Parts: sequence; C-alpha cells; structure tokens
Amino acid sequence: MKLDDLKKNAKEDINKATLIKELESVRIKYLGRKGSLTNILHSIGDFPKEDRPLIGQTANKLKREITNLLEEKKKYLEESRALEWEDLSLPGRKTSKGSLHPLTILSQEIIDIFMSMGFSVVRGPEIETEYYNFNALNTPEDHPARDLHDTFYLKDGRLLRTHTSPVQIRTLEKHSPPLRIISPGRCYRVDTFDPTHSPTFVQIEGLWVDYDVSMSDLFGTLELFTKKIFGEGIRTEFLPGYFPFTEPSAEVWIQCPFCDGKGCSVCHSGLIEILGAGMVHPNILKNLGYSEFTGFAFGLGVDRIAMIKYNINDIRLFYQNDIQFLNQFNEIKL
Ligand code: DAH
Repeated sequence: MKLDDLKKNAKEDINKATLIKELESVRIKYLGRKGSLTNILHSIGDFPKEDRPLIGQTANKLKREITNLLEEKKKYLEESRALEWEDLSLPGRKTSKGSLHPLTILSQEIIDIFMSMGFSVVRGPEIETEYYNFNALNTPEDHPARDLHDTFYLKDGRLLRTHTSPVQIRTLEKHSPPLRIISPGRCYRVDTFDPTHSPTFVQIEGLWVDYDVSMSDLFGTLELFTKKIFGEGIRTEFLPGYFPFTEPSAEVWIQCPFCDGKGCSVCHSGLIEILGAGMVHPNILKNLGYSEFTGFAFGLGVDRIAMIKYNINDIRLFYQNDIQFLNQFNEIKL
C-alpha cells in the first residue's frame, strides 16, 4: 500500500470512530505490532538502498501524524463522554445529615445548665501525673484506686486520668478563689466492656470555692441540676458517701425514672445514683494556701446520665459507632 493511501485511510478511520474502543482498533490496525504502517517501517530494508531514507522519513512522519490524530480524537471522545455523564435532569443526591454524638449533646446540655448558674468551663489533660490524679486529691498511696489493675499507667509513670477531679487542683493552682468551674472530658479505667462498664467514659467535674460555701449550696445547686435534666417532678436524695477529696461526702441519687421510684430491675430500690459530691477536703484547700475558703465539688458520669435520660441499657453503644444508633440523636436539639 502506498503511504499516501495509508494516510488517507487512517484519517478516515479516525474520523469515523465514535467510541474509544473503536479508536483503539484503528490504532492497532495501523500502528499495532502487525499494523500496516508498522509493517512498512519493518520492511524498509527490502527497498532499494537509495529510496530507503526518504521512505523511512515519510513513514516515521506519518507515524507521528497518526499518533497525534489518535491522541486528539481520544481526548475529544473522553471529554464528550464526560459531558454525557452529566445528566442535569437527574434529581440531586440527598446528603445525609450527621449528628453530634449523644455524649456530646448531653455534655453540652449539662454545661449550659451550669453556665447559667455562673460556672465557667475549663479543661484538663487526659494524660495526668500521679500527683494531680491522686496525691493532690488527698488520695493516699495505699488507696485501691491506685492499683495497677485499675489505672492505665504510661511507661514514664504518668497515667490516663481516672476522673476529672485533677482539674480542681490545676485550676486552684492557677486561679485563686472565689471561683466556680466545671470541667468536662474523657476519663479512663481498666475495665472490660460490658453493658455497664467501659474503659473510657466522660465525666463532668464541678467546683465552687468561695467564702462560706456550705453543704446547702451544694444541695441546692445539684437539685436544680437534676430538675433541669430529668424534669421538675424528679425527687433527688443526698446520701452519705466517701471520697478521699471531700469531707463530708455525698452520693446524689434520683428517683428511678423507669419505675417512678417503685423499684424495678434497673434500680432495685427505687433510686439510682447519678453522681458523687462533697465539701472540698480542708487538707486540699490548706495545701494550696486557701484555708480561709470553703467549697464544694462534684463529679458526674455523662454516660450514666445519658443511659438514664435516653433509656439506653448498654454503655457500649456509645463507643461502637453504630450509625443506626447514633442517627436517633439527629432530632435532639441543642
Ligand atoms: N472523682 C469521683 C469519681 O470519679 C467523682 C467525684 C466525687 C468527684 C466527689 C468530686 C466529688 O468532685 O466531690 O468517682
């Protein structure tokens, strides 16, 4: 075949191709291993010596030309194909609405309640020293909470905080009373997951230090809190408790919302414990140089309150990221 004819045919074939795969067949027909132009290029040696340079040059030039035409057409087909995919008449794709995590939603609600009572929010580190997590909180060396089995220790002796109470000390070191703070955040304990235990959970710490803060301020504040969270009709009881960093200490219980205080499989006694509290231990204030002040503190488990408030019977649901579970909180307004 003469090179001129070959050129004409190749151009025609390229023009006719409407699909990329057709274009590929055209490429193979002329430039493939057994393509007609490839054959010519391979057989240059069969031509008379004096004709070889011209034939070689022309054939190579043609090869470049065809390659360029193929490239151009391919680009054109790809672009027009992209346009084909853009069907403007199709309905838009629905974007799915995410939601905040239930523990975030509830933490925010609790924070708002305390902020309305004049508390400000401070945060502390999740990796703590033994000093802030235990010693400074009047927790003796032999206290069971210090057991290696209860606390995650780092190689350097630091630990993952087991509660938010260290923030009390960190705050009092930096700011002198009077002050009112709450501190939300993650805590960790060596617990195996089961319906009521999790190695990580969320707490909110509270601290109010001032001249003449009394136990009745504590009761009043926490009673108001439980009413705002569980409704005006909720009954709150303060029972004696023990914490090394408060004296006296109290446990705050509410009337069980599942049985209205009659007694059921959740509460047994008609009451459910929701938080620990007490008057800041005088040793703590003395160590920090604030003997003339008194204060109260409390620590509440957000997971526990969420389980009661939203009627959730397994704490693990908060940590499994099951979309179906989490989606239910879409509707809860902040
Ligand atoms: N830190 C305690 C815990 O994790 C909770 C607590 C109890 C905090 C009494 C307090 C408090 O501030 O006064 O079990």
